Amino acid sequence: MRYAPLTVPIIKRGIFLAATGLLLAGCQSSPSTLNPQGPAAARISDLTWVLFVVGGAVYVIVMALLLYALFRRRATTQSSGPPGRERWIIWGGIGLTAVVLLLIFGFAVNTLVAIARPDTADQLTVEVTGHQWWWEVHYPDEGVTTANEIHIPTGEPLEIKLKSQDVIHSFWVPELHGKLDLVPGQTNTFWLQADQDGEYWGICAEYCGIQHAKMQFVVVAQPPAELERWLQAQSQPAVTPTEPQAVRGQEVFMEANCGECHTIAGTAAGGELGPDLTHLASRRTLAAGVVENNRGNLGGWIIDPHGIKPGNLMPATPLSGEDLQALLAYLEILE
Ligand code: CUA
Repeated sequence: MRYAPLTVPIIKRGIFLAATGLLLAGCQSSPSTLNPQGPAAARISDLTWVLFVVGGAVYVIVMALLLYALFRRRATTQSSGPPGRERWIIWGGIGLTAVVLLLIFGFAVNTLVAIARPDTADQLTVEVTGHQWWWEVHYPDEGVTTANEIHIPTGEPLEIKLKSQDVIHSFWVPELHGKLDLVPGQTNTFWLQADQDGEYWGICAEYCGIQHAKMQFVVVAQPPAELERWLQAQSQPAVTPTEPQAVRGQEVFMEANCGECHTIAGTAAGGELGPDLTHLASRRTLAAGVVENNRGNLGGWIIDPHGIKPGNLMPATPLSGEDLQALLAYLEILE
């Protein structure tokens, strides 16, 4: 055939891509549903393996039968065998398929029911609101507001109320649970639980605009007593600067109108368009998980946010080097 020379490289490329995919799936650094770290994710992982094994077995059996039918020695006469054999094959095929599909369906429904609610009652509620392109995190009972970071008690379920400020987003921590959408105008209730202390990566799993891929967050599972201390610290107003450079930094913050969009509790800054900065320095990342929270990245983010995350709502803030250093000195004390 004329197209044969092209087909071979395409098949080779396909095998290479499939193999690369398998290698990447085994990578522990990226969050994977096959590396469950909580009770809900464990059930989802079991379902995934059952579907994979059953689907794989069906594929192998069908292919074997197909090859058998293609290559078996043909009968010398037109007769297709004893009467009733064909009917048996047709009804057997339908019956077996129905049984396999029903069993899988039953297993899937059972998993859905099992992960709908946690086994034990949750003590803590957090409201997560999706924005283009960051996550607002609010603990209503503790009066704590932060961003792109959700702290949860290890070994205990946490109730999550999901909302959206603009478009549809989807909340997904692959190692802890499945996905649930954040839909404007409605509240969807979800829960998370982690078996071990640690940090679990979360992502937006619904295309929500140009920076959808840079809408990430981190879930920090910590012992309940440690979480208590964290909530206590986060519920306090921001520290007042005393060191001259930081005092000047607070003035720069106000002069540059940063407070129009950001809140710093205990100051005149009360904007609600962007993330609450009251305890900015305690957070692990900037720009919704895009870069590590350190002085260099924070300075770069203030001067040229679109260089890091094109299209986001934060305007570039041109500052003199001196003012920028003062502003950074101030923001760095907001722990
Ligand atoms: Cu938010 Cu995709």
